[in-house]
Amino acid sequence: KEHFTGRDFICLQDFTPDEILHMLKVAKELKEEKKGGTSHSILQGKTLAMIFTKSSTRTRVAFEAGMLQLGGHALFLSNRDIQIGRGEPIKDTARVLSRMVDGIMIRTHSHQDIIELAKYADIPVINGLSDFLHPTQVLADLLTIQEHKHRLEGLKLTYIGDGNNMAHSLMFAGKMGMHVVIASPAGYKPDAQVVAQAQAQAKQYGGLVEWMEEPLAAAEEADVLYTDVWASMGQEEEAAIRMKAFQSYRIDRETMERAQSNAIVMHCLPAHRGEEITEEVLEGPQSVVFDEAENRLHAHKAIMALLM
Ligand code: CP
Ligand code: NVA
Repeated sequence: KEHFTGRDFICLQDFTPDEILHMLKVAKELKEEKKGGTSHSILQGKTLAMIFTKSSTRTRVAFEAGMLQLGGHALFLSNRDIQIGRGEPIKDTARVLSRMVDGIMIRTHSHQDIIELAKYADIPVINGLSDFLHPTQVLADLLTIQEHKHRLEGLKLTYIGDGNNMAHSLMFAGKMGMHVVIASPAGYKPDAQVVAQAQAQAKQYGGLVEWMEEPLAAAEEADVLYTDVWASMGQEEEAAIRMKAFQSYRIDRETMERAQSNAIVMHCLPAHRGEEITEEVLEGPQSVVFDEAENRLHAHKAIMALLM
């Protein structure tokens, strides 16, 4: 526990595979305890400030309900209401919040703003999604994969779609010993530096991370198929161009036929049916998207319990 206290959760790059496995173990324990009706006071008297400059259903509810279930309290701070929205510097907000609360979760566009917040805050800062990364989602995803596949090591995860925040964070499943393949159009590849970093970390722990242009070839023998929206929050104006570019980057029946017969299908949600995934696959027997969504709660409780 000591090892986690006071740390930030900004990217999976910062955590070793053993630390990630420990977070998953705590998440699993908290999940079982919740199902068994055990209540907690781990974070009694503590407050989490949650800054949102983008929409959210899962992330907000997971952190807010999770905080309550751990005995603490969460504050929802929309940029429409707090002074950040009127131009108060992040570094001032960081120091003010540090004197009043015990942790900050932030969802915003610029990843740099999260780094800046963490630099000036002396309490843990949790990245609830930036344009660059979505690490809390991936912790919940790893928990979901463990539950359905009983391991991480040696599994092939194929992500089909935009080389976006989801792709960037999922690539760090490579260091859990997984084989991660990102299939995206050439013009929408993941960031080369992140790929290199994920590959280096994966290599150290027996995993593999690669990029391919051909989605069906990428899906071959996959144990996990993953996708995300073609146009992320903030890219609404590019939606029409992206719609064309991503036409063949969809999880459908044909994709499923290429993967292992017992492959699971994942999506961080919200999903656009008929775009990156068909209704049939999303609602089909191999889809675990609602287990995945539920696991945001348990995984985020583990993050807060350990850091705060
Ligand atoms: N997957 C995810 O982060 O969902 P929300 O945008 O609803 O938080
Ligand atoms: N890539 C998506 C993920 C939403 C959870 C976005 O950033 O909008």
